Amino acid sequence: NERNTKMINIEKTKVAYIFDGLTSNILPDEAVKAINAFMVTENLYLATTREITTKLENLNDEFKYVKDRNPIHQIKARVKTPKSIFDKLTRRGFELSVESARNNLTDIAGVRVICSYIDDIYLISKLLTSQDDITVIRISDYIKNPKPNGYRSLHLIVTVPVFLSESTELVNVEIQIRTIAMDFWASLEHELWYKLTDEKTAMVTKELKDCADGIADIDMRMQNLHSILTPAVKLRL
Ligand code: GTP
Ligand code: MG
Repeated sequence: NERNTKMINIEKTKVAYIFDGLTSNILPDEAVKAINAFMVTENLYLATTREITTKLENLNDEFKYVKDRNPIHQIKARVKTPKSIFDKLTRRGFELSVESARNNLTDIAGVRVICSYIDDIYLISKLLTSQDDITVIRISDYIKNPKPNGYRSLHLIVTVPVFLSESTELVNVEIQIRTIAMDFWASLEHELWYKLTDEKTAMVTKELKDCADGIADIDMRMQNLHSILTPAVKLRL
């Protein structure tokens, strides 16, 4: 039938193939194989986010006992959806396959760390990246160098080993570390962008940038308050 023909035509493009396969009732062997390959990979990335999340939770818990406070407010982890992987590979002109996704995309596994204060971001980043099994691939500091639209966050691309039954895989993961305030801006900016109409672009862009700068100023003031009050907390211990 038409669907089967279409699936055979895009046999090379495994990711696209998987989408179609998943919505189809009749699965040819090849589709089943492609789906399995994808699920193995998806599981690997899920394991990767768990590895990183555990490391962060361990650091946060230790701090609670040693310093009487939590530098981490919240941890969110996600594995990129097949559709989103497909779209990004297409956008960047890469081959559409599970192997290509593994080799070319560094953000299939993503962990977002929401911290209380700006200093906590650099603290967590330093503690995490100094662990023996973590290799830093790239650090983008959008706090020291905010994006033109006002976006702020510290982005780390690292690899972490994941131990499987028959091999050890070094897997890429994107870690975004930001304050509650930066997360507030990024979440709403992301949402507002979908509702944007052409004629309002200039006004919205300017207003969002103003909000981002206002938020950054407040983040600094909160950091200062924290820095002033922290010695008192230490004395109490
Ligand atoms: P992507 O293709 O978006 O992954 O870009 P990249 O690989 O060059 O990485 P970059 O560091 O620019 O951004 C990676 C991720 O950071 C995005 O997927 C978003 O989650 C987040 N991000 C980056 N810029 C913005 C922004 O302007 N607004 C919001 N809300 N999030 C952003
Ligand atoms: Mg990215």
